[in-house]
Amino acid sequence: MVEVKLEKITKRFGNFEAVKDLSLTIKDGEFLVLLGPSGCGKTTTLRMISGLDTPTEGRIYFGDRDVTYLPPKDRNISMVFQSYAVWPHMKVFDNIAFPLKVKKYSEDEIRKRVKWVAELLQIEELLDRYPGQLSGGQRQRVAVARAIVVEPDVLLMDEPLSNLDAKLRVAMRAEIKKLQAKLDVTTIYVTHDQVEAMTMGDRIAVMNAGRLLQVGPPTEVYLKPRSLFVATFIGAPEMNVVDVSVVEKDGGIALEGDGFTLSLPDDFGELLGEYTGKDVLLGIRPEHMTVKGVSTLEHVTRTAEMDGVVDFIEALGTDTIIHAKIGGSIIKIKLPGHIPLPIGENIKIEIDLDNIHMFDRDTKKAIV
Ligand SMILES: Nc1ncnc2c1ncn2[C@@H]1O[C@H](COP(=O)(O)OP(=O)(O)O)[C@@H](O)[C@H]1O
Ligand SMILES: [Mg+2]
Repeated sequence: MVEVKLEKITKRFGNFEAVKDLSLTIKDGEFLVLLGPSGCGKTTTLRMISGLDTPTEGRIYFGDRDVTYLPPKDRNISMVFQSYAVWPHMKVFDNIAFPLKVKKYSEDEIRKRVKWVAELLQIEELLDRYPGQLSGGQRQRVAVARAIVVEPDVLLMDEPLSNLDAKLRVAMRAEIKKLQAKLDVTTIYVTHDQVEAMTMGDRIAVMNAGRLLQVGPPTEVYLKPRSLFVATFIGAPEMNVVDVSVVEKDGGIALEGDGFTLSLPDDFGELLGEYTGKDVLLGIRPEHMTVKGVSTLEHVTRTAEMDGVVDFIEALGTDTIIHAKIGGSIIKIKLPGHIPLPIGENIKIEIDLDNIHMFDRDTKKAIV
């Protein structure tokens, strides 16, 4: 186990910068999730940590050791990929034993270790089968077993669950998370799935277009996004974002949008002072609003209201997503339970003012 430190990593393919000036420290034993849309540079970053690729600029350290140019075999890392990289012509036992044979472990030690991981991953009864005789989930378990059997210093996983069906994916999330906690191995887990990131990571590192945008514990990244990108990438349904003007009203400050005005408590004046008379982006998560008379916001002290009209209802069973028309835009409100509001109904929407977000229109950075 080891701390992994990326220092100003840049990777160019020709003129194209796949990763730009990325600095990040993954703590010893931490489960770090690298999250971002397809093409943002996640796999490239992971390949540089593994040694399959080298950075154009910057350094990579495992503890005090500079590993920037070391080949994978000298780093004591293991990788698990999206496609189950298990060898079809080898039985499960031999698949798992393979990296140990490469490292010239004794027959006895190999048997002991394979037994240990097989128990951990509950695949003891599969050891005599060929991969062709396994389900996708079982094959991925074998791939994970093979990765951890050598007790790597660093475990690297690149979208390992994305080929599994939805139900299995949820089950495997919990299993991998528990396994990692038990082994206490420094883990870097790549995904484009924000739910996976939220549920698995000790911390999430959000990337876009080759850049690292924000790193923090899941709830912090969720509740205090520092940019519009992070705010809208994490959360489903995604955060509502509308144009508003910051105005002075009745001696206080208010946000004026198409079809609504929100009067804000005094402390917002300090925050928004320099934006008075300007336009900003207002962000509100669907669960930070409610419909008056239908449901109440819990643990909320400061609220404001806007009028809307029910445009559409998504009944999800456990939740209801109400699409409300406010001025020219549609805002989504997420309420617990089944709320059969009629389309066309006039509603009063109550907003939790301690959970609204404002972003600079030009920089798209959070105003904090
Ligand atoms: N070997 C390569 N040569 C040229 N471009 C590459 C190469 N590998 C990746 N890229 C480009 O770098 C960007 C990031 O790729 P990648 O790290 O695979 O993204 P992600 O894993 O986040 O989907 C993409 O635009 C991709 O096309
Ligand atoms: Mg990738």
